[in-house]
Amino acid sequence: MDHFEYRDGVMYAEDVPLMQVAERIGTPCYVYSRATLERHFRAYSEALGSHPHLICYAVKANSNLAVLGLLARLGAGFDIVSVGELERVLAAGGDPAKVVFSGVAKQENEMARALEVGIKCFNVESLPELERLDAVAGGLGKVAPVSLRVNPDVDARTHPYISTGLKANKFGIPVDEALTVYERAAALPNLKVVGLDCHIGSQLTELAPFLDALDRLLLLLDKLKARGIEVEHLDLGGGLGVPYRDERPPAPFDYAASLLERLSQWQGRQALTLLFEPGRSIAANAGVLLTRVEFLKPGEEKSFAIVDAGMNDLIRPALYQAWQAILPVDTRTPRDTGTYDVVGPVCETGDFLGKERELAIAAGDLLAVRSAGAYGFVMASNYNSRPRPAEVMVDGDRLHLVRRRERLSDLWAGEALLPEPEEAR
Ligand code: LLP
Repeated sequence: MDHFEYRDGVMYAEDVPLMQVAERIGTPCYVYSRATLERHFRAYSEALGSHPHLICYAVKANSNLAVLGLLARLGAGFDIVSVGELERVLAAGGDPAKVVFSGVAKQENEMARALEVGIKCFNVESLPELERLDAVAGGLGKVAPVSLRVNPDVDARTHPYISTGLKANKFGIPVDEALTVYERAAALPNLKVVGLDCHIGSQLTELAPFLDALDRLLLLLDKLKARGIEVEHLDLGGGLGVPYRDERPPAPFDYAASLLERLSQWQGRQALTLLFEPGRSIAANAGVLLTRVEFLKPGEEKSFAIVDAGMNDLIRPALYQAWQAILPVDTRTPRDTGTYDVVGPVCETGDFLGKERELAIAAGDLLAVRSAGAYGFVMASNYNSRPRPAEVMVDGDRLHLVRRRERLSDLWAGEALLPEPEEAR
């Protein structure tokens, strides 16, 4: 459920008609709904109820400070993958003690900064990373809290680019090596084992892979306990899918409830805090990308609707052949319906937002690309020297600009000309 809906033929974000956003801010522009973000976050926390838990929103999905600040106020923790994400969380008022640090290539300076601010846990993905973390912590006179990210070898049955829990993926420590690596972690002087972690992929639409992973992790916890290693928390990662089209993924409430149900059969459950790292299921359907039709270009084989947003603004369709709904913002004026490829201004054939869409539109109309709140702006680039779009957050009938549109001069900020050639001096 989200707060983007038609009222009398006009699409609204909460109580703001999207035309108003375009008039005030221009296009292309990302529009987020505060109430939707809050609703999705609460769905997790309500399902988990009184069971000890922490929801660590995956910052990579949408790292705008307003989004992070809102979630921080709701009590969220954060899953980060770089020191840049850590500094964003801190700038947004997030609590470092609720931060978990994932990622396969943590740099020494990143580890040091995370230790300095006192994060909750490092999700360590390999033996050499474990050794590096021990050395960095030792150098600072600190003890680093660690989980191992274990790769449970379950098939998430999602797009291969966003499946991470198989043996063939670069992520995590294979489940059958985990015991040995845990023993090493327990023996290193500057580390404290606090958890067990996994993340099997993104945009999962079924519960079975999550439950399989949970079963494998609980087995591993039993084995660890037998060797005298006990953990405080189990981090099940992110990955719950969202309906982009006709997928029917479990709702966050049902997902969390069924994991709790499975956990209830396991002895030791009360002492185990559950962590989640959801990104997409909180942010995706809390945002749209607003774009304007520049030209309609009818053709013999194909007709194109050329819009002012391109693959540099939203790369998911081009990169993953992802399908996202594209809807006209104002349907009050009757228009002829056509079948269009909705394409952007970038000089690449792969620059499309949607293919073969039935749309009743004319040049100058506004379109909303739905489900663009996650992995939208964060993956935007300046390709073709296009300034990145503005981001706004709607809250009831108010509109807040939460990131201004980049200016042309931002495009080359930080660049430099070569010195004059010798002979010209
Ligand atoms: N935790 C870890 C360790 C992750 O790698 C990810 C996502 C998450 C949590 C959050 O997963 P989510 O709940 O959002 O599924 N750019 C792709 C998605 C890449 C996901 C990468 N990892 C897309 O646009 O579909």
